[in-house]
Amino acid sequence: MTIDRKCLINWVGGKRLLRKTIAPLIPKDIKSYIEPFGGGAWVLFYKDKWADLEIYNDLDGRLVNLFRIVKYHPNAFKEEYKYLLGSREMFMQFLKGTPITDIQKAVQFYFLITRSFGGRGETFGTVKKSSGGASKSQKNVAEKIDAIHNRLDKVMVENRDFEKLIKQYDFEDAFFYCDPPYSCGCGYAVTTTEGFAHEKLREVLGNIKGRFLLSYDDSPKIRELYKGFEMIEVERLNGINNKNGGAERKNRMFKELLIANYPIKELHENVG
Ligand SMILES: C[S@@+](CC[C@H](N)C(=O)[O-])C[C@H]1O[C@@H](n2cnc3c(N)ncnc32)[C@H](O)[C@@H]1O
Repeated sequence: MTIDRKCLINWVGGKRLLRKTIAPLIPKDIKSYIEPFGGGAWVLFYKDKWADLEIYNDLDGRLVNLFRIVKYHPNAFKEEYKYLLGSREMFMQFLKGTPITDIQKAVQFYFLITRSFGGRGETFGTVKKSSGGASKSQKNVAEKIDAIHNRLDKVMVENRDFEKLIKQYDFEDAFFYCDPPYSCGCGYAVTTTEGFAHEKLREVLGNIKGRFLLSYDDSPKIRELYKGFEMIEVERLNGINNKNGGAERKNRMFKELLIANYPIKELHENVG
């Protein structure tokens, strides 16, 4: 079994299943690539380099600490990780405990996310049948850390609210891939979906000099908010147990929108 060295963690709302659809829509003539809602950074990591300047940002300090530690202290991370057991007791201990150093904080957060049900870091995840367990292998984790460490070499890691970040890095040749919390569904540690400033994001994106590509859930609210922008509908499988086919599969299709302030329809038809 091969492991996906191109990403570090599965994150709620992560674009693992859509990254192949999104990638061809990203313009080639950009001078900077910025992800204001970085999460697990599936699109950023999909390619070895998008632009000379690349920025990962998320408001969740636990994610930012993880990526900063992998960027600056990969060996310390691997050393700390190597003695961990894949046990429920350790999971509960990390859930309740307070890590002392930033390295411990990163390792424990990584452990909780990769060992939990649905990647939410809340309940210990178990399986009845192994699907290879590649991400649980100590050797594979070490290889993954090295790969992500190399990928992050020139990526700046920021920890700001999207509004400040977008305004700060905007210019004519900037490109923003935005993957905010959906307008409905589950939220994040830093915000609920209802509490998230969807209107503010629309206002900020409507005033930038650079280009943006935005992914959202397909809802009347979002269609109304972004009326006038180019929009394409895409579908992906919903949920974690998505290997079966047939009607069951159809019920689990989830509709998303890709919205941009530059032409994307033609690009999408040419690849699709
Ligand atoms: C849909 S997820 C991003 C998933 C990511 N594209 C991936 O592939 O894993 C949305 C992210 O936005 C972050 N977020 C929520 N509110 C934010 C804000 N005001 N500013 C910046 N990031 C925010 C959340 O912490 C979450 O990680």
